[in-house]
Amino acid sequence: MAELERLLATEAEALEQLLVSLLPAETGPAAKLHAAMRYASLGGGKRLRPFLVGAGARLFDVPPARARRVGAALELIHCYSLVHDDLPAMDDAATRRGRPTCHRQFDEATAILVGDALQSLAFEVLADPATHPDPEVRCSLVEGLAKAAGAAGMCGGQQLDLAAEGASLQLDQIILLQQLKTGALFRFACESGAVLGQADAAERTALRAFADDLGLAFQIKDDLLDVAGDPALAGKELGQDQAAGKATLVAALGLDGARQRLAELRQSALVSLERFGPAAGPLRQIFDFVITRAY
Ligand code: IPE
Ligand code: IPE
Ligand code: MG
Ligand code: MG
Ligand code: MG
Repeated sequence: MAELERLLATEAEALEQLLVSLLPAETGPAAKLHAAMRYASLGGGKRLRPFLVGAGARLFDVPPARARRVGAALELIHCYSLVHDDLPAMDDAATRRGRPTCHRQFDEATAILVGDALQSLAFEVLADPATHPDPEVRCSLVEGLAKAAGAAGMCGGQQLDLAAEGASLQLDQIILLQQLKTGALFRFACESGAVLGQADAAERTALRAFADDLGLAFQIKDDLLDVAGDPALAGKELGQDQAAGKATLVAALGLDGARQRLAELRQSALVSLERFGPAAGPLRQIFDFVITRAY
C-alpha cells in the first residue's frame, strides 16, 4: 500500500502541473473567476480518477501524456461537481479538501460560475488534438465524458440524491443513485484508457465491470467515513449524511452490512481484472486503497 500511495503522489504531482498550465492565469478582467477556478482545482484531492485513467491506459500502451490530459479533463469535471455539491442549495458544506469551500472563500455566484467554467474547460481539453491525433477518438472521449457528467450520469445522480433526502429508498434505488452520482465518472475513468488505446469491446466491457464495482465501493467507503471517519484526515465535515437524511447504503445496510458489501465488491472487481494479468496490478491496488482509506 505504501508503494501505491507513492505512485498516487507522483501521478498527482504530474497532474497538478498539467492543471496549472491548463487553467486560466489569475489576470485580466475576470481574474476573480480565474482565481476561484484555480482555488477549486489545485492543491488538493486524491486525484483518484486521473490515476485510474492512467492505470487503464497503461494496459494498452497509451502514451502517458495523452492519458494525463484525459485525466485532467475528468478531474476538472469532478472539481466542478464538488464546488456545486457544496453550495448552500445542495449539501451546504463549509469545508472541502481541508479548506473553506469555494463559495465560502469567494461567494456563491462565483462558485456557480467556477463549476460552469471548469466544465467547459474539461471539454476544451478533450477536443484539443494534443489529447489524441485521431478526431474520432477525441469525439468518443467527448461523448463519453458528456454522458458520464450529464443527466444520465453525475447530474442525474445528484438530483436523485437531493430528492431522496428524508425519503426511504429501496436498496436498488440507492444503488442506482450511487451509480449515477459517483459511479458514472469512475466508469469513464476506467474506460477512457481503453478508448485512447482503441481496445476491443471485450476489454472495454471488463474495465466497465471493474469500474462499476469500484465506483460503488468508493461511495460506500465515502458514506462509511461520513459516519466513522476523522474529519481532520478527510478534509471535510463528516456526519452530514445522517443529519441531512441522505439515502446511503450505510443507512440501509448498517455498518457491518456495508463493510460486507465492500468485501463482495472486491471479489467481483478482481474477477473482472483477471484477463489483464499482472499489468492490472495498479488497478487491483487502487481498489484496496479505496476501501481502506481514511481520507
Ligand atoms: C468526493 O470525492 C466526492 C464523492 C464522489 C464522494 P473524492 O473523495 O475523490 O474527493 P477528492 O477529489 O479526493 O477531494
Ligand atoms: C458527492 O457525494 C458526489 C458528487 C457528485 C460531487 P457526497 O455529497 O457524498 O460527497 P462529499 O461527501 O460531499 O464529498
Ligand atoms: Mg452530495
Ligand atoms: Mg456533499
Ligand atoms: Mg459524502
